[in-house]
Amino acid sequence: MPRKSLGSVSVDTTSDPTMRSRPERRRRLLAATVLCAAPALTGCSSGAPSALDPAGSGSGRVANLWWLLFWLSMAVFAEVMVVLAWALLVRRRPDVRVRHGQPLRFVTVAGAGIPLVILVTVYAVGLRDLAALGDEPGPRAPTIEVTGHKWWWEVRVQGVEGATANELHVPVGEKVRVRLRTADVLHSFWVPQLMPKTDLIAGEVRETWLHADRAGSYRGQCAEYCGTQHAHMAFLVVAEPRAQFDAWLARLAAPAPVPRTDAQRRGQEAFVRGSCAGCHAVRGTDANGGIGPDLSDVGSRWSIGAGAVPNDGGHLGGWIANSQTVKPGNYMPPQSVDAGRLPDLIAYLQSLK
Ligand code: CUA
Repeated sequence: MPRKSLGSVSVDTTSDPTMRSRPERRRRLLAATVLCAAPALTGCSSGAPSALDPAGSGSGRVANLWWLLFWLSMAVFAEVMVVLAWALLVRRRPDVRVRHGQPLRFVTVAGAGIPLVILVTVYAVGLRDLAALGDEPGPRAPTIEVTGHKWWWEVRVQGVEGATANELHVPVGEKVRVRLRTADVLHSFWVPQLMPKTDLIAGEVRETWLHADRAGSYRGQCAEYCGTQHAHMAFLVVAEPRAQFDAWLARLAAPAPVPRTDAQRRGQEAFVRGSCAGCHAVRGTDANGGIGPDLSDVGSRWSIGAGAVPNDGGHLGGWIANSQTVKPGNYMPPQSVDAGRLPDLIAYLQSLK
């Protein structure tokens, strides 16, 4: 153990923080810096949608406001550091003289004047952006009706008969009205790259809008804790040219595709005659359950279980057999499907697109 001799007194330099050597202090400072930076770096994972990568006018305003606040914070931080350095200099150098009245002037300007300018600026910009975000689409804009359920999103379009789930389409460059309701508890509709979040409150109809500047698929997420599967309550917004959006509307209004193979026909029979139809609907068939998502286009959806697992044959089979192992707590009970029937059911559901 390193010990330092001070006359007749021997001092343990590892236990007294004031006696640590300079390299050791540097190492400890570096370790503390890394530990403090680690939580911030966990937010750097790739693939997650970022509100700082806006693809629409709504999120563009939010991103601009964020950067304004960020750079203002940086400027204030730098100012405080300069003042701190100056104060330390004055303490150490008695020859540096502070003129009479200088501290008062400094406190007036840096402590009151500059903060006032910053606060008024941020308030004015915030009010301008709030007004812009509250600017409703025109009366001719499409209206998409979204209902939050534990834990999936029901999607309908005003004036169109059909329904889908966990996916909605918007025409690029056009504002689309989104009317929000909840069927149970509080949820929150958030598409980070397109629009800030809007809460879905029981008994209320809330409205927001979406506007995408460029075509693409944008992930949305429930942003209010709503139970055990809150994290698996994702959805997709597909922004596409107007012609493709109109084609989506036409598909939504049309009956589901008719089975083309024997396996698909057997699958449809099992679906309509079995327990599936008690909870799910498929347009154009006798299946018209309203508890779970409408499955008329389930074969084309981006995921199963609102973002729980990819939409492929294996995951679909696992979901039908026992979705509780995939998304515990969801309302679909395990199904006692004959192993020979399962491939037919999968073939039928995958043909619905
Ligand atoms: Cu719905 Cu969280």
